[in-house]
Amino acid sequence: MANSPETLRAYAEVDLDALAHNVREVLTRTDADLMAVVKADAYGHGAVGIARTVLAAGARMLGVATLDEAVTLRLAGIDAQLVCWLWTPQEDLRYAVDTGVELVVYSLAHLARVLEFPVPDSRVPGRAPRIHLKADTGLGRGGATPADWQELCRAAAAAERDGLITVVGLMSHLASADEEDDPSVGEQTENFREMAAAAEAAGLTPEYRHLANSPGTLDHPATHFDLVRCGIALYGLDPLRADATPGGRQVDPGLRPVMTLRSRVVLTKRVPAGHGVSYGLTYRTPAETTLALIPLGYADGIPRSASSRGEVQVNGRRYRIAGRVAMDQFVIDVGDDPVEIGDQVVVFGPGDHGEPTVADWATYAGTIHYEIVTRLGPRVPRVYIGGPS
Ligand SMILES: Cc1ncc(COP(=O)(O)O)c(C=O)c1O
Repeated sequence: MANSPETLRAYAEVDLDALAHNVREVLTRTDADLMAVVKADAYGHGAVGIARTVLAAGARMLGVATLDEAVTLRLAGIDAQLVCWLWTPQEDLRYAVDTGVELVVYSLAHLARVLEFPVPDSRVPGRAPRIHLKADTGLGRGGATPADWQELCRAAAAAERDGLITVVGLMSHLASADEEDDPSVGEQTENFREMAAAAEAAGLTPEYRHLANSPGTLDHPATHFDLVRCGIALYGLDPLRADATPGGRQVDPGLRPVMTLRSRVVLTKRVPAGHGVSYGLTYRTPAETTLALIPLGYADGIPRSASSRGEVQVNGRRYRIAGRVAMDQFVIDVGDDPVEIGDQVVVFGPGDHGEPTVADWATYAGTIHYEIVTRLGPRVPRVYIGGPS
């Protein structure tokens, strides 16, 4: 039987009701279908539990980056439509093709690799490997350039005519939809329209054209097409404020943060003034004080770059990290406050009770909130609350 949360050193509480709310909230902003992006273990929230909840709440399909991520979901019994977009032409596609994972293709080499994994009765409609073609409309990352697009579309159309594949989608990815009034959004949208028209001219009639990520979905309706791909918004983190300032609540009032990271004080001790704390002794106690040890470190995803900057909440008060974050632990200086072994620590949460938010931690660490939740390590159990009982 699983440990009850009270007995754990630390855990990430994942609020499935907030998640379902966010799915419904996003769906009110678009007429398109929703792909819930659950790559990177659902941005650290735990892919399997998240996948079940988002599908029940109305997501049409799931998106992952790697084949391993797709396999994990299939082995957990999740047979929903599932798209995988980052695989090399050296990888074994057998399991993915046999379990209907839809593969994103952006080069002739990728297309050729898919064709090496025919389904025995692939001429039966709906049984051929299902692919999405990806265009680079300006991000300069994955996707075929306009120069290579025509040839890729023609080759895919020929394979589709032969019954060897089904082209389910055309997609691209936005570079800067989170930045206010960035002209690249309009340019990429226009490029995507042109590349989709070229694909259609080559004979492709895919069910889904998809371009928007969370910021595109919330802020740029022209990017929606037939399907939007949302990650960060579903986890309740505001995509329009990836580097929000400390103390800032979520700007988008419609979204509810899903994750709260909790721990407990593992030791307290009185020390005299001038006592050094943690590796390098970069912190010295200004006066006689109480130090409290928190059993979370960079192995758990607490960024070392938040040393001497990060804050946590204990018994309703915020305290700054004293000195360096180590692999497994960090220390706070609680002065003369009555903090004791076993007291609850909130590292971050929605911010409703004065605790730091994920956005605050992004600022402490000089990064974006995506990274704070995604880097949470496997040593930290995910504990689900809410959701279907
Ligand atoms: C191809 C693709 N689509 C959609 C997303 C989701 O982005 P966001 O979390 O900003 O919604 C990602 C994540 O980076 C992605 O790689």
